[in-house]
Amino acid sequence: MTASTTAWSPDSWRSCPIKQSPAYPDLAALAAMEEKLGRYPPLVFAGEARRLQEQLANAADGRAIVLLGGDCAESFADFTANILRDSFRVLLQMSVVLTFGASLPVVKMGRMAGQYAKPRSSDTETIGKETLPSYRGDIINGPDFTPESRVPDPARMELGYFQAASKLNLLRAFASGGYADLHRVHGWNLGFVERSPLAERYRDLAHRIDETLSFMAACGMTSETTRDMRETDFYVAHEALLLPYEQALTRVDSTTGEWYGCSAHFLWIGDRTRQADGAHVEFMRGVKNPIGMKCGPTLEPDDLLRILDLLNPGNVPGRMTLVSRMGADKIAARLPALVRAVRRSGHKVVWITDPMHGNTITTSNNIKTRRFDDILAEVRGFFGVHAAEGTWAGGVHVEMTGQDVTECTGGAHRLTEANLGERYETFCDPRLNAEQSLELAFLVAEELKRRRAAGGHLSAAAE
Ligand code: PEP
Ligand code: CO
Repeated sequence: MTASTTAWSPDSWRSCPIKQSPAYPDLAALAAMEEKLGRYPPLVFAGEARRLQEQLANAADGRAIVLLGGDCAESFADFTANILRDSFRVLLQMSVVLTFGASLPVVKMGRMAGQYAKPRSSDTETIGKETLPSYRGDIINGPDFTPESRVPDPARMELGYFQAASKLNLLRAFASGGYADLHRVHGWNLGFVERSPLAERYRDLAHRIDETLSFMAACGMTSETTRDMRETDFYVAHEALLLPYEQALTRVDSTTGEWYGCSAHFLWIGDRTRQADGAHVEFMRGVKNPIGMKCGPTLEPDDLLRILDLLNPGNVPGRMTLVSRMGADKIAARLPALVRAVRRSGHKVVWITDPMHGNTITTSNNIKTRRFDDILAEVRGFFGVHAAEGTWAGGVHVEMTGQDVTECTGGAHRLTEANLGERYETFCDPRLNAEQSLELAFLVAEELKRRRAAGGHLSAAAE
């Protein structure tokens, strides 16, 4: 029997094959923690998830674009207001630039307040003569290379829950308490442009935003008079990898009677756990949140359609976001067939690009990095495929931080592999730093502007 023909319940995933599942040594402690978390308040309200889904529905048909960004893996150690604030600030800065470039609203989501569980390509890690279980994210085990630290510990789920609650509280305050004021965000962007070696290139766009804000103020639209200029909607998202945790936070919405995953507004299925008959697809088919799925180079069109039928049988717009992560060298060969198959099937989805995960390389010194130019090439490839297919390139997903790290090479400051040792702080994959993130936003805005100039969005080929 396939998953679609069986009844769904929050624990129906338990009878499906599961990948990337940690081997907890103490199952009684795990069960006790699940029971405890099951009694804690939900972190998000279902009404917020529905509002996000409506905004994503706009991005499915060319009336909005999506920006999803944040750490590859959040760390319990980086639990400070400043780190969270800086990443949030850079996402806002990027979103202003993209809003202007596209002349469309940007749906903003952070890989924040819950992005604690990581899929790994290998179950073990070897350093010298010692082999230990891989680090799977702070909500599962510890990053230190010691046998004690690598044991999966259910107590970490509770710490993850409380840290997520605290971060979400601060993000909500930032979003509505004045920090996200459009004039402030624009002021930060002007500072970025003046510091950038590519200031000449970016100045024009920044100054046009400046003029637009002045014009709006002259018409009476200021932060004081207009709520949308001083507040913003901001949503949190993470990979729904650790199913015992996700199940414990699944709740019935009292207003609709439907099940929602209440650990975040938006949850996604990773590229390693997207099997149609697997536990992760089974869990996600029953929660009503807007959800995402990573689409890597091994995904075949038939499998994708089967999964879409399972996850969104009612073809609800905004429910499904497909996150293409092919690699700059594979996108032209792999993405068109998927886009075409989805278009022909009639499934309404948001397509966004993750130009990070297909472009990870290892240097001769064994450091994981990504080249800015590969990231940009994949973004351009993504726009190119959608232009050719007559479909809407709905947004961008990035691994980034507001800190001045040296994890990805390239960008206007021309970081080289020799710079990587200076501030390499990620707990998992290499992230764009604040400057590289903004630079990417300016370059994508140029792309969006070109698309508008070329006649806008969904061409006749979209049927
Ligand atoms: C991630 O987003 O951090 C990730 C692991 O991605 P993917 O599932 O696409 O490899
Ligand atoms: Co990652």
